[in-house]
Amino acid sequence: MRILVTGGLGFIGSRLVDDLVALDHEVVVLDSVADHVHAVDPDYRNPGAEHVVADVRDPDAWLAALAGVDAVSHQAARVGLGVSPADVRGYVGDNGVGTAVGLWAMHEVGFAGRFVLASSMVVYGEGAYTCPVDGPVRPGPRSAERLEAGRFEPPCPHCGADLAPGLVDEGARLDPRNTYAATKLHQEHLATVFGRETGVPVTSLRYHNVFGPRMPRDTPYAGVAAIFRSALERGEAPQVFEDGGQRRDFVHVADVSAANVAALTAAEPLIGAANVASGTPHTVGDLAVALAAAMGGPPPVVTGRFRLGDVRHVTASPQRAADLLGFRASVGFDEGVAEFATAPLRAAP
Ligand code: UD1
Repeated sequence: MRILVTGGLGFIGSRLVDDLVALDHEVVVLDSVADHVHAVDPDYRNPGAEHVVADVRDPDAWLAALAGVDAVSHQAARVGLGVSPADVRGYVGDNGVGTAVGLWAMHEVGFAGRFVLASSMVVYGEGAYTCPVDGPVRPGPRSAERLEAGRFEPPCPHCGADLAPGLVDEGARLDPRNTYAATKLHQEHLATVFGRETGVPVTSLRYHNVFGPRMPRDTPYAGVAAIFRSALERGEAPQVFEDGGQRRDFVHVADVSAANVAALTAAEPLIGAANVASGTPHTVGDLAVALAAAMGGPPPVVTGRFRLGDVRHVTASPQRAADLLGFRASVGFDEGVAEFATAPLRAAP
């Protein structure tokens, strides 16, 4: 197949490009190599792929890159949580407008292949919980007062009881809580509408907490695994927020790439959303301990500090991707963390 990968020089996109080239697909990369993403020109540019250096908001770049393409993997995005309200224009421009321009271009060229979107678990907001009294519930944002008092678990929104965290599935109510999350959901909605209007099969892969080689280094927008690794490299202890008991699904980039390959090439397309997760949740404290041990660094410090916008637990059922794409994560947590301890990271700009 001839496959267009936008953001094909990014953390996840570049892994996908390598895997698709290794599988003998023809790959076209559309990537802007933006200064605010790449401190230096990436040294891992795959020579087996064609490279178009342009912004996803550029209509002509999309039209050129789409020539002869059988499937599109839209990985290009401004990532992270957003650190200031001033970030809103950048997120909506890169993620919302960039996707809209791509959909427009696909319509212009009569694209009839598959469209696979890199979405995120952030569209769920807080995870799924069970209340002993009220059954399944989805708590709202935690109050500053509660967090300052060290009460990190969200209470039942109906009766205030303690909750048991569970797994979100794709039918869960969506509750984006930051600018990035709102633009990821907007991308899903735009792509879904486009799919209905044109018959193009649209798959939204909701990535959980991805880690692995080429992860961007410590920046205000970086994920916790890169932040912990960067601290340990400086000889400093990882700073664990809250009490370290917050649960996430840390999924290796090799598995996220494999899920994309499956979505692009499976006999039947998966229409709609699918979680991309390991299926084996871990706490942030677990991650800090495992990484500190793997790097022979100082043990983590559990700070009790918190970020008001953070959710407590968000872990996923990977069942839909398993049933419809045959995707199952293959990199175990211990193995992934051991590799990540020495994996090359992308320099921060
Ligand atoms: C992250 C991404 C989000 C992405 C999602 C799924 C960021 C900033 N967030 O959300 O964009 O869509 O994964 O892949 O990239 N923590 C610490 N110490 C630190 C930093 C964070 O303990 O120094 C804790 C946080 O309080 C949080 C957890 O680690 O509880 C995870 O934080 P983070 O990596 O930012 O990820 P998510 O918020 O889960």
